[in-house]
Amino acid sequence: MSGSILVIGATGSIGGAIASHLPTDGFEVTLSGRSAEKLNILSIDGAEQKIVADLSTEEGRQALVASSPELDGVVFAAGVAPLAPVRYLKEVDLEACFQLNACMPLLLVRDLLKAKKINKGASIVFLSSVSASKGAVGYAAYSGSKAALEASARCLAVELAPKGIRVNCIAPGMVESDMSDGFAENASADALEAHAKAYPLGVGRPQDVVGAVSFLLSDASRWITGVTLPVDGGFTI
Ligand SMILES: NC(=O)c1ccc[n+]([C@@H]2O[C@H](COP(=O)([O-])OP(=O)(O)OC[C@H]3O[C@@H](n4cnc5c(N)ncnc54)[C@H](OP(=O)(O)O)[C@@H]3O)[C@@H](O)[C@H]2O)c1
Repeated sequence: MSGSILVIGATGSIGGAIASHLPTDGFEVTLSGRSAEKLNILSIDGAEQKIVADLSTEEGRQALVASSPELDGVVFAAGVAPLAPVRYLKEVDLEACFQLNACMPLLLVRDLLKAKKINKGASIVFLSSVSASKGAVGYAAYSGSKAALEASARCLAVELAPKGIRVNCIAPGMVESDMSDGFAENASADALEAHAKAYPLGVGRPQDVVGAVSFLLSDASRWITGVTLPVDGGFTI
């Protein structure tokens, strides 16, 4: 496999695992994260470039697009999950969640296309979540943002098919990470144990997601577009 891939959210648990793995499959990776400190300490053989970009700002998005090389693939693994029952949901958190999880992937792809940074035949992979299709207390903002992302990805897949550009989502179940640690802080030990039991193959690790991402970036999936692939240890069976 070969090609130049931009991994957004490379400073996160899942994005970091993806970025570390892709060079072993033959891809060249450009790493992006919000935190300069975390990005600087990332040491990945085969990582060509690092771009610090806070995607909550217009400047951050513009800097990322301007600094990106020409791309054969984009992995959008940045995300936030403000959990709260709707009664306690803050408007600012709801807006930030939709902005980063649902709006930013589209705006970034728009700007990368306008800047001619996405090559014909490229593959775009968005990190969604099983939460897009499951109801759970406290998840209204997060689940809604991921459902919007999946719906938008299907439309983008149709729009970009004439250029041979594919657009797919991966929907992980609960993966041990900084984000799931945040989920755990909001749940009782009993609720967490019950949730873990709903995974026939057990709860996942960030490394359990990387194979599916690499497959969707590769030519092995050249006839697959507009799908959401669950990677969830059987949670949604
Ligand atoms: N963990 C799970 O159980 C799980 C399950 C299903 C789906 N997912 C999805 O998988 C993706 C990765 O999750 P994760 O578990 O790896 O989360 P994580 O460890 O918390 O990482 C989140 C990433 O998002 C970046 N980020 C947050 N706000 C940003 C902003 N304003 N601008 C740019 N980057 C920003 C962070 O950058 P910095 O670190 O540099 O601040 C970090 O790289 C997310 O889309 C998440 O919704 C996770």
